[in-house]
Amino acid sequence: MRYTSLSVAVGLVSLVLLARAMSVEADPGPKGADADLAKPAIDYLTVAKKGTLKNPYTDNPKAIAEGKQLYFSYSCNGCHGGTGGGGMCPPLSNAVWIYGSDDDTLFRLMALGSKKLNEAGYARKRTEKVKGPMVPFGELVENADELWKILAFVRTTYRGDPKRRNW
Ligand code: HEC
Repeated sequence: MRYTSLSVAVGLVSLVLLARAMSVEADPGPKGADADLAKPAIDYLTVAKKGTLKNPYTDNPKAIAEGKQLYFSYSCNGCHGGTGGGGMCPPLSNAVWIYGSDDDTLFRLMALGSKKLNEAGYARKRTEKVKGPMVPFGELVENADELWKILAFVRTTYRGDPKRRNW
């Protein structure tokens, strides 16, 4: 009798554990935009309509620190300088944004590069002292998540008028 109730108890415990394991497995994980962040940046673009992409990491200190490391590891600094002040290429820290300053435009520019962005219907609205094409990073970075973190860091280099901030 004692053995029976013990084995029933053991059986119940393992059933509960099994159910928990199954419910964890059945959990679809983060939905919508969060799940999309793991996608390659190039695919992430196609799920969102033009003008709708928004950086989930703006002003997030942890993401900014990661973004800074990524910025250097992908050699963005080689062209834009370590603090985004430009150099060989346009500065990222001033209020002049060639195609626009919003998250959506900048994500697409970084992922597609200038050539494909122009093909997608974008045109330069402003020019900086240096004129040239931005390289496509969409297939070089791991996923959309990395590109947003890099942009979150780039935003911290901004030295323009705070009133013109639209991100
Ligand atoms: C080979 C040089 C080069 C590298 C490397 C490079 N860029 Fe660029 N980037 C450019 C040029 C040139 C432009 C201007 C594009 C245009 O006018 O079409 C630009 C434009 C930009 C802009 C828009 C600037 C504005 O004023 O509107 C952002 C943001 C940017 N790059 C971010 C990055 C990031 C982040 C990286 C690293 C992942 C990176 N770039 C790597 C050359 C480079």
